[in-house]
Amino acid sequence: MSLQMVDLKTQYHHIKEEIDREIQDVIESCMFIGGPKVAAFRENLEQYLGVKHVIPCANGTDALQIAMMALDLQPGDEVIVPAFTYVATAEVIGLLGLVPVMTDVHPHTFNITAEQIERVMTPKTKAIVPVHLFGQSADMEPILELARRHNLFVIEDNAQAIGAVYGFEDRGIQKTGTMGHFGCTSFFPSKNLGCYGDGGALMTNDDELAHKARTIANHGQSRQYYHDLIGVNSRLDAIQAAVLNVKLQRLDTYNAARRQAAETYNKAFAGIDGLITPVRMPNSTHVYHQYTLQVRDLPGEASLPGARRDALKAYLGEHGIPAMVYYPVPLYRQAAYSHYWSGPEEGLPVTEALCNSVISLPMHSEMSEAVLNRIIGGVKDFFEG
Ligand SMILES: Cc1ncc(COP(=O)(O)O)c(C=O)c1O
Repeated sequence: MSLQMVDLKTQYHHIKEEIDREIQDVIESCMFIGGPKVAAFRENLEQYLGVKHVIPCANGTDALQIAMMALDLQPGDEVIVPAFTYVATAEVIGLLGLVPVMTDVHPHTFNITAEQIERVMTPKTKAIVPVHLFGQSADMEPILELARRHNLFVIEDNAQAIGAVYGFEDRGIQKTGTMGHFGCTSFFPSKNLGCYGDGGALMTNDDELAHKARTIANHGQSRQYYHDLIGVNSRLDAIQAAVLNVKLQRLDTYNAARRQAAETYNKAFAGIDGLITPVRMPNSTHVYHQYTLQVRDLPGEASLPGARRDALKAYLGEHGIPAMVYYPVPLYRQAAYSHYWSGPEEGLPVTEALCNSVISLPMHSEMSEAVLNRIIGGVKDFFEG
């Protein structure tokens, strides 16, 4: 049995007939760009998320860039991001001449918090990008409240948490990606809602921002050959929309399967000394884009930080079990971003600890009992011999 981090092939075989028919439809129609499949997906996603506007685009990174352009952020403006995230979150900030201000994250949820944000805010701060990392919402209520008080924009990076739900104290629940001025997501194939190539989308409840983002994504064009803004060319193509229409109907089922696999992992790993299973937040559901453990180094061990995690990864690899480290390097230690860092040489304590302890195990919608048992067996053998 060969194991993968994400088993897209088994998932495809379960929905093959529908996917093939939908793709064939697009080819027969020759409407490869725009057209009814993209329009249907936009509407279906708006309905699923309970958001007024979805603006499909070419990928999640573009979605973040278009959001920042639509909010009219200006060179030199500061944008607060977690130091523990995928690079795309900060990349577009640098690209637009904005300044990424990196902050530490919560040790359990791996997400930024209002307290951390408040610590690094300056008069130049214009926006916050909470990333709902690994499938669980950042604690949005205090973040939104802080942003409201200081007139800051909130752009949710929802690339890893589509389908997760956040609960407000007294105003019900909302899907992640629909709470800020913009939500941005990615349909990269391995995402919880992934297409068969690249894809992304912005979400917003603001009519004006939606119009602006739509215009920017289409060369800044308000009507054909009239360009009011400098824009980009960022489209979700019809074949990807056709695939996404099929998979969106099953997203809740896929996320439930991930949750069930996570529960099986959690039960199996409970009580293993030095291994911390993912911590669930009370006011967010978790869609387990990643199932991420923390491996503690042995006390008094005369080895480099992260040695035990790296040893586990190597051991699993030797036994044919894939595992990945998301993410091994804090943003402020990346060569392209270190010049933005004016904090202490030793970095941020939680981010540093996470980069040296996290390990993600295979997680997808098709985890069979046999697959889970094999992975669990490998992890237990490492710790318990
Ligand atoms: C947190 C986060 N933000 C942004 C992105 C960028 O998405 P894409 O690869 O579609 O550009 C990703 C996906 O890789 C991601 O995980």
